[in-house]
Amino acid sequence: MRNPLLPDDVYAAIDKAVAKYPVGQQRSATKAALMLVQRFNKGYLTTPLMDAVAEYLLLPPIAVYEVASFYTLFESEPVGVYKISLCTNVSCYLRGCEDIKDYLFKRLQIKFGETTEDKRFTLKEVECLAACTQAPAMQINGDYHENLTLESIEKILAELE
Ligand code: FES
Repeated sequence: MRNPLLPDDVYAAIDKAVAKYPVGQQRSATKAALMLVQRFNKGYLTTPLMDAVAEYLLLPPIAVYEVASFYTLFESEPVGVYKISLCTNVSCYLRGCEDIKDYLFKRLQIKFGETTEDKRFTLKEVECLAACTQAPAMQINGDYHENLTLESIEKILAELE
């Protein structure tokens, strides 16, 4: 059943995701549905929104909460306009992500898990982004930025300000 919290275009996109799986396997579209709902809700999920997804996919709410809490790409609190997800896993570590982390902390005046006062940037520490051959890597709102250097980071941030 559709919930008035979500507009028709979000439901249409969820239907498309569900259609990729065999009939009765709509559970497989849970992650895609949550991504669509999170995008609609300016970057984070709420319990009523997750419940709406569960109701629509005919799942117990816990099945949706489990997916939302497992993946670091999902947020349960409001985030800044730009969510920076910096990988600190082994390849990125060996290629200097610590320097990039220190630079971002200083440049944005926040630490991992925090949002700047002006609500423009949220900084997250994430595990491998599957971009190890281009380490160090980060995502901003899901877009990849690879082979990072302090110079390239500064250029990227300057373009977002
Ligand atoms: S370790 Fe950073 S992208 Fe894989």
